This record gives sequence, structure tokens and C-alpha cells, in this order.
Amino acid sequence: MPTQPNSPYLPFGDHKNAPWYGKDIISVKQFSRADLEYVFGVAHEMHGMVDRVGTFDLLKGKILANLFYEPSTRTSSSFTAAMERLGGSVIPINEVKYSSVAKGESLPDTIRTLECYADVIVLRHPETGSAAIAAQAARKPVINAGDGIGEHPTQALLDTFTIFEELGAGQIDGMTVTMLGDLKYGRTVHSLARLLSLYKVKLNYVSPEILRMPKEVMEEVAAKGIPQAEFDSLEKVLPKTDVLYVTRVQKERFEDPEAYESVRGSFVVNPDIMRAAKKEMIVMHPLPRVGEISPDFDDDPRAAYFRQMEYGLYVRMALLAMVLGKA
Ligand code: NCD
Repeated sequence: MPTQPNSPYLPFGDHKNAPWYGKDIISVKQFSRADLEYVFGVAHEMHGMVDRVGTFDLLKGKILANLFYEPSTRTSSSFTAAMERLGGSVIPINEVKYSSVAKGESLPDTIRTLECYADVIVLRHPETGSAAIAAQAARKPVINAGDGIGEHPTQALLDTFTIFEELGAGQIDGMTVTMLGDLKYGRTVHSLARLLSLYKVKLNYVSPEILRMPKEVMEEVAAKGIPQAEFDSLEKVLPKTDVLYVTRVQKERFEDPEAYESVRGSFVVNPDIMRAAKKEMIVMHPLPRVGEISPDFDDDPRAAYFRQMEYGLYVRMALLAMVLGKA
């Protein structure tokens, strides 16, 4: 189905000269502020189209290979839904134990295989740097859906889109964003801190001592002139926070189970604690949650984490359309 004829983002025909056509999406470092405006413009439009018509044929005939070497509910199913809502189809490889990976096939060979059949590859892999390795092996675009403790760029894009949509366009400058939980192993916060450093934000990091934000990320953010501060409790920073970004302690990344036990349940956001927060602010979480936000906070209007998942669909639709030359 043709999209709105006067749309700045989704006009008729191909956009083979568009800057993102054929590109990989490996790191948030690839994005400028202008790029974000563009992605969010397309995502906003995708939202409108989904509301109006549900599914449309922008990517009709295109195939996505969804290759997941680690568990996923939201990322995998939202990429599938994004492709199908754009009229394309999906090769799902969620259980690598049923694919040739179980026979010892290397990542580059698996990628070379899939690109014979698909137009774009979405990859989640437990090793940092794996998406870049896959992108080098591939002629088709590779989208990083999480590489170990490295990055999760599409999550950071949808997180930032959520902030724009929930707290008003243009308002990210001047905001205080507090990241809470496992900042060491959480790839979503590594990407989000880097991406938000394109804006004039203030970043607070609240974590147990052994789960602090990696130096490397903090140095990159500092180089952009962004003020950052670390805390071991939420109390001091919560009243000034505009976005509270909560994360799960990444049990699967701990070598020592006792170390995990020592920090699990360190922070729990609940209605009582949230009485100290602003009325106009949001609580986000990439999900899954395993106790860091108590379910009795879910009905609070500031609880944005379920809406955040939905924004992910529109951002992933935008990214697929962009790398396939249709936006
Ligand atoms: C996150 C991930 O996989 O890094 N989940 C997601 O993609 N929404 C966060 C997590 O697993 O804790």
C-alpha cells in the first residue's frame, strides 16, 4: 500500500541514495543528533501508519534473518513484528542449537549463509564485538541486537525515542537521567549513556560498588562535556531525576554466583520510594525485570516501561526501512 504522498520520510519509490541505505547498525556512535531526528521522524510516522492501517507494503518481498544466540522476547519479536507490519517476512533462528551453529559453524560462515537468503540480518550474540565481525563478513546490512556486554544500539534508540515521545520533543536538553542497577554488565546503559551524550543531559549512575559504569564508557561521555556522578543509593538523586532508567542485574554474566547473590535485590523501585520523585518524570526499564520494579508501581502514570516496548516496534520499523532504502 502506498504511504502518504506528501510524507517527508516515506514517499513512493526507493531511496537508494539515502544515507542509511545498505548500512550496518553496530554502535550508537554511528548516530549524530540529526540522524536521531531523522530516525524519530520516521518512527513517529510508522506509529501513525500502524494506528491507521496496521500493516502496509513498504518492505514487501524483503526478508529479514533474525539470528539470536542469546535469549530474547522483546527484541526478537519486535523485529519480527516490524518486518511483518512492513509487508516483509522473517527467517527466525532463535534456537541456534537446531542450526549448524551446533555443529561448530563459525559466525562469519553462518552470516554468509543467511545473506544468501535474506536482505538484512539482525544478530544477538554473547560476545562483545561479534556484530562488527558479522558486519565485516556480510555484504548485506547487519543490525546489532546486543553483543555481550558491549552495545544494544536499537534499544538505546528506542529508549531515547521514548524520552522524546513521553516528555515532549526538544526537551532532552537540560534533563537529568539516572541509571540504576547493573551498569557494569548492562549493555543497554552502555549504549544509552553514549547516545544521550549527544544532548545536554546530566547523568547519574546508581549501582552497587561492583557493578559501576565502565570507565571506558564514562570517559567517552566525559569527552562530550556531559556531567556524570556516581552514587550508591537512589535517595539523593531521585528528587531531581527526569528519567529513572532501571536495569536488571545480569546474572548470566557473573563468573562468581556468590558475587551475584551479594548484589541481587540491591535496589527495588516501589510506590513508597517513588513518593520522593517528581510528578512529571518517567521510569523506564529495557525489561525483563526480575524484582527491581515492584508490580504495584505499574499503574502509576510515570511507569513508562510497557509503553517503551511499543515504541520499540516503531523504531525498529524505521531502522529496517532505512537500511533497506525505503525511508
Ligand atoms: C536487554 C538486553 O538484552 O540487553 N533486554 C532487551 O533487549 N530488552 C536487557 C536485559 O536483558 O536485562
